[in-house]
Amino acid sequence: MDFHKPRYTPMSRRRRIYEGKAKVLYEGPEPGTLIQHFKDDATAFNAKKHEVIEGKGVLNNRISEYVFQHLNDIGVPTHFIKRLNMREQLIREVEIIPLEVVVRNVAAGSLAQRLGLEEGTQLPRSIIEFYYKNDQLGDPMVSEEHITAFGWATPQEIDDIMALGIRVNDFLSGVFLGVGIRLVDFKMECGRLWEGDLMRIVVADEISPDSCRLWDIKSNEKLDKDRFRRDLGGLLEAYTDVAKRLGIVGENEPPRGAGPVLVKG
Ligand code: TMP
Ligand code: ASP
Repeated sequence: MDFHKPRYTPMSRRRRIYEGKAKVLYEGPEPGTLIQHFKDDATAFNAKKHEVIEGKGVLNNRISEYVFQHLNDIGVPTHFIKRLNMREQLIREVEIIPLEVVVRNVAAGSLAQRLGLEEGTQLPRSIIEFYYKNDQLGDPMVSEEHITAFGWATPQEIDDIMALGIRVNDFLSGVFLGVGIRLVDFKMECGRLWEGDLMRIVVADEISPDSCRLWDIKSNEKLDKDRFRRDLGGLLEAYTDVAKRLGIVGENEPPRGAGPVLVKG
């Protein structure tokens, strides 16, 4: 028996509901809640590439908290309740819709490749894409026809998901523009939240530099997981830069009480 460790809710005795590549979900303190734990694991290309980057989980927990709390505040429904500690947040249990919803403003990554566009080209308008969440298949791109035919979501739910995607994109684009960052694209996931007999679609999972492309407006420097995917190095420094620009206080830093730092010019 180790008397130095607290005897209540030891990590090992909490019921683990699900373990993904970068996060673990534990049973929450009340029915209908879960604890979302951010790990330091970085994966790419369907986990063919894997590294542990110490501190990444702490940064993503804080950045995702910032995004989800603000979404809640402006009336965009999410699963987020509150951050609990350096690596964990309390969330509402939702039924995850098995889609990765990608919203793009600028050509990059798989879109640039597929359509032969130069990375960095502004798109004529924001484009929403759906990928079927299935690691064995490598998350293939699917259309609304596939989604409704296979029953992953109804046409009404697809409408709700697209409306959420546009609201999240508008919010995120504005926040990042204000701190000198271009939101190139991002991925979000949605879930069904049941409140009695009523169900609504909410934003779930995380929104962090792991799931966004963020480029410095002036230098075009990448401040996201492409630093890992493309072996550019400096991932932790880039995520820290994003957190600092958003005015998020580091665990070991004295509180600055500042909001987002505006970039002039
Ligand atoms: P893509 O250009 O590789 O399709 O990626 C589009 C966006 O989605 C980009 O911001 C990175 C994010 N993304 C994920 O969050 N998870 C994934 O598994 C993939 C492939 C992309
Ligand atoms: N997260 C995905 C994986 O582990 C891919 C990616 O983000 O690029 O493969």
